[in-house]
Amino acid sequence: MPAVVLIGAQWGDEGKGKITDYLAQRADVVVRYQGGNNAGHTVVVGDQEFKLHLIPSGILYPGTTCVIGNGVVIDPKVLVKELDYLKSKNINTDSLRISERAHLIMPYHIRLDELEEERKGINKIGTTRKGIGPAYMDKAARVGIRVIDLLDKDEFSEKLKRNLQSKNNLLERVYEVKGFDFQEIYSEYLGYAEKIKHLVADTSVIIHDALDEGKNVLFEGAQGTLLDLDHGTFPYVTSSHPVAGAACIGAGVGPTDISKVIGVVKAYTTRVGEGPFPTELTGEMGDLIRNIGHEYGTTTGRPRRCGWLDCVILRYAARVSGLDSIAITKLDVLDQVEKIKICVGYKYNGQELRNFPSSLKVLAQCEPIYEEMDGWLEDTTHIRSYDELPENAKKYIERITRLIGVKSAIIAVGPKREQTIVIDTIFES
Ligand code: GDP
Ligand code: IMO
Ligand code: MG
Repeated sequence: MPAVVLIGAQWGDEGKGKITDYLAQRADVVVRYQGGNNAGHTVVVGDQEFKLHLIPSGILYPGTTCVIGNGVVIDPKVLVKELDYLKSKNINTDSLRISERAHLIMPYHIRLDELEEERKGINKIGTTRKGIGPAYMDKAARVGIRVIDLLDKDEFSEKLKRNLQSKNNLLERVYEVKGFDFQEIYSEYLGYAEKIKHLVADTSVIIHDALDEGKNVLFEGAQGTLLDLDHGTFPYVTSSHPVAGAACIGAGVGPTDISKVIGVVKAYTTRVGEGPFPTELTGEMGDLIRNIGHEYGTTTGRPRRCGWLDCVILRYAARVSGLDSIAITKLDVLDQVEKIKICVGYKYNGQELRNFPSSLKVLAQCEPIYEEMDGWLEDTTHIRSYDELPENAKKYIERITRLIGVKSAIIAVGPKREQTIVIDTIFES
């Protein structure tokens, strides 16, 4: 029953796509279970780069079943575009399965996301404006439209009409903008239904059967721990649960089905969007890391804010997701850095904080306590075994491991599939 959950341990963009793609070599099923096309997972195979937003990063392996689980919010327009994009790159997508229970992102969700961000002005969240928040709001309000509804013309028509009544009311009377036309959305969405209906299934059954047969199942998280609706830096978070527990709800499996949880950790920290970031580097060092690490958003192209590695965050991620091991990515980005800092704690009001604070006001006033380490100043991108890594790189990894109390299983030293050092095997066979 080898079911492995892979999550982002920071603010997203840790390299989950790359690690998922690497582990998918041995996986029979790869499942996305939360988020939507706010995610941007980059996978590099040979000299080809793939940017995936909705479809699991296991899709590049023929024969691997890929699942978009019930916990994902699906913009069918984006899904159809992504399927076409993969086909244009000669990737077979027949093995994709889409949950009947997943909720749909509708055009009014995207519009409301944009309008709310504009209304909030300087207090904006900095969302990806893909309609994620409003779609999850409708799910929680029990008015959302699911994939299964889209496949039933009458049901879809009725639910769309009902939703448009209230959404157009809101758009026209509160936001004072034009509402949406029923017929336009209805025919556009039925067009998408035609294109995806053969892929729609009760995906919980597929995953359950695979686990029953002893197959390897990999759950690919999107976003990161600090963007979690409950555990993240609220309100500067996304509207789903990037922590490991969400894999069960978002895929339809039980906690007893999960055998391992891996946290993907970037060798430094980045964040897109607004909100406090204690180890942020706003000067030259931040620019250097951004340039070497190509830290620009996969989904929105926004420059990512960069900073030193923060072990307070990582200890927190280890706790809330029950991490068994971590995969450290982008170690190579630090190859040219002479002195590397690690945040080992926070100082607040003259006292050291033991745990990651809930209050954003407190977090904004936390001063990182740093340890400084000598860099290795050597190219690591060609290294394929742990022993070959420069001594100072090993010291950096070992210090992180000790500070967070979780072992390192994988080290990535470049975006390509082969630029991966395995310390601990995740799937035995
Ligand atoms: P995700 O959202 O967690 O999947 O991460 P993104 O794909 O948004 O961002 C990670 C970026 O770093 C991508 O462009 C990857 O190709 C790249 N990447 C992943 N691992 C490594 C690594 O070890 N070294 C370098 N240099 N780039 C990496
Ligand atoms: P991957 O899976 C980084 C951020 C947005 C914003 C906040 C809310 O590639 O790691 P949303 O559109 O979700 O309502 O935006 O969450 N965000 C991400 N940041 N990586 C992501 O995904 C993200 N998905 C959302 O920038 O701050
Ligand atoms: Mg990303």
